[in-house]
Formats: sequence, structure tokens, C-alpha cells
Amino acid sequence: MWTKLLITLISASAVHGQQQQHQQQPQPDPAAVESCDLFKRSVLERRPANPKEFPSAARLGYRNMAENKTKWFCGGTLITNRLVLTAGHCLYTDIGPVNIVRLGELEFENDKDDADPEDFGVLRTILHPDYKHPLLYNDIALIRIDRAVTFNVYKHPACLPYDDGESHESFIAIGWGQQKLAGRPSNKLLKVILEGYGKRCLTDLESNSELPNGYNASTQLCIGSPDSKDTCNGDSGGPVLIYDNKHPCMYNVMGITSSGISCDTPNIPSVYTRVHYYMDWLKQEIAKVK
Ligand SMILES: *[C@@H]1O[C@H](CO)[C@@H](O)[C@H](O)[C@H]1NC(C)=O
Ligand SMILES: *[C@@H]1O[C@H](CO)[C@@H](O)[C@H](O)[C@H]1NC(C)=O
Repeated sequence: MWTKLLITLISASAVHGQQQQHQQQPQPDPAAVESCDLFKRSVLERRPANPKEFPSAARLGYRNMAENKTKWFCGGTLITNRLVLTAGHCLYTDIGPVNIVRLGELEFENDKDDADPEDFGVLRTILHPDYKHPLLYNDIALIRIDRAVTFNVYKHPACLPYDDGESHESFIAIGWGQQKLAGRPSNKLLKVILEGYGKRCLTDLESNSELPNGYNASTQLCIGSPDSKDTCNGDSGGPVLIYDNKHPCMYNVMGITSSGISCDTPNIPSVYTRVHYYMDWLKQEIAKVK
């Protein structure tokens, strides 16, 4: 078991993806509005996100000012105009402290894509008080960026969850992490649909050094895929989302990518931080920033 830092992202064999592409006919979503591009629920394989599809997606990195170089290593989710939600373990890396947050991006190293990338500095990081590195319980943190985001179709927040996520059958995971365990991070933001595995992590996941008491069903979500699809290293801190039926073009962030056994082993679920459990703490921290 390892954190999904650097190794993660959404992983599926290319062959598998190709096959499904021919079988699946995307259905137009009746709720689609002009200002956004809603996730098509029939998309089964991991594939690049569309422009403006996930305006809450953030990527976190360490910028070495002396060398003028940035290493990107985690994901995050914009939840207010100044706060980005991520995993606690993203604040404990060998690479360096998170000191740069990119919003509005689609494909890195491509300035012709339909995106509006903007880098923000970090005013401070707010780790959950019960996160105890290197354990992966309470793996949740907030990053306060150095100025307010001006919302537009490329950058706006996701909603916090209305429920604990247990009753949802499917989730959308996104990130720029690796496509294969030994692969390179993706330049493109990728998306995949994963399934809720309910209580299966209680029996299917053995305890390990990062989760010595095994899966905690109150504070964690168990999500996986019967196919070779998963989040992979580099996706840590990024969201698992559901479409918000009450608000057009909005998503609810139900989970935070935390840890897993491998990137794409079918039917081996991964563990995500259950955001709903932390609503009181999140509301407190949000109130402090207003
Ligand atoms: C840092 O690098 C970027 C491109 O990677 C360049 O546009 C910028 O001018 C550089 N800044 C300095 C201070 O060298
Ligand atoms: C799950 O985590 C919560 C919050 O840290 C803790 O209060 C509870 O005892 C844990 N449950 C188990 C079964 O370890």
C-alpha cells in the first residue's frame, strides 16, 4: 500500500479503452447548459476531460524559485474563492512544500488548449488536526491561496457533499496523475467513472503500516472498478465527484484520493477520504477565511 502521491492517476489499459470506445454511445445530457460541458455518464473508459468540464480541478506543486522549476505532485479541488481541498499527505512530500496552485488548466505545456490557467501562491496550509503522518487516517487538508479567484467558466468551486456518499453507485475521479504505475504523469486532465464498493474495504483491504486499523468506514470511502481503471500516483488529493442535480454545471466533492494497492488491478478498491465526515471542520475553516 502506498499513497497515490506521484504514482497515481487514472489508469486503464489502452486496449481496454479502445474497445469500450466503440461500444459506448455518449448520451446527451438534457441538463446541459451552454456555459459548461457536463460529464457524460456513459463514458466508461479513462479519457481526457473536456474544456470547462471540471472548473474546480486544481494541481498542486512545489516551485523551486532559484531554479525557476515547478514539480507538480498532487491534485486538489477549489471549494471557495480562496480555499483548495486536498489530502493531508500532500503536505508531507520529499519534493518540497506546496507553494504553487494551478487553477483553470486542462493540458499542461499546451497553451493552445481551451483553458485559462492561472497560478496562485500559498498563504498557508491547514492540516486536519487528527492527521498523523505517515498514517492515512483523516487524510484531509486545505490550502489557502494568496488571492481570491475570479470565477469564470474555467475556474469555479465544487460543492461540499449533501450526504456521506454511501448510497451512490458511481463517482467521477479526475486528475493529472500517471496513467500506469511506472508511467509518467499525464499532461492532460483525465477522468474516469468508478464504482462505490460500500463496505467491501472492511474485508478486502488488509491493514498495513499506513492504515494499521484497516479501513475506517466512518471517515473513508471505498471505491473501485471491475475493469482496469483507477486513480494512480499523482492523483492524490484530487476529488471523486458526483454531479450535483440541484445546480447546473456543479459537482459535489464526495471523496479525496488517498491511497491504494495498485493503479489498475481490477476489483481491488482504493481508499478515499470521506469528505462528508469532515463537514463541521470544513465549515469552521471556511468561516475563518470570510
Ligand atoms: C521562468 O520560466 C518561465 C518559463 O518556464 C519563463 O517564462 C520565466 O521568464 C522564467 N523566469 C525567470 C525569472 O527566469
Ligand atoms: C474511525 O475514525 C474516527 C475518527 O478519527 C474514530 O473516532 C473512530 O474510532 C474510527 N473507527 C474505527 C473503527 O477505528
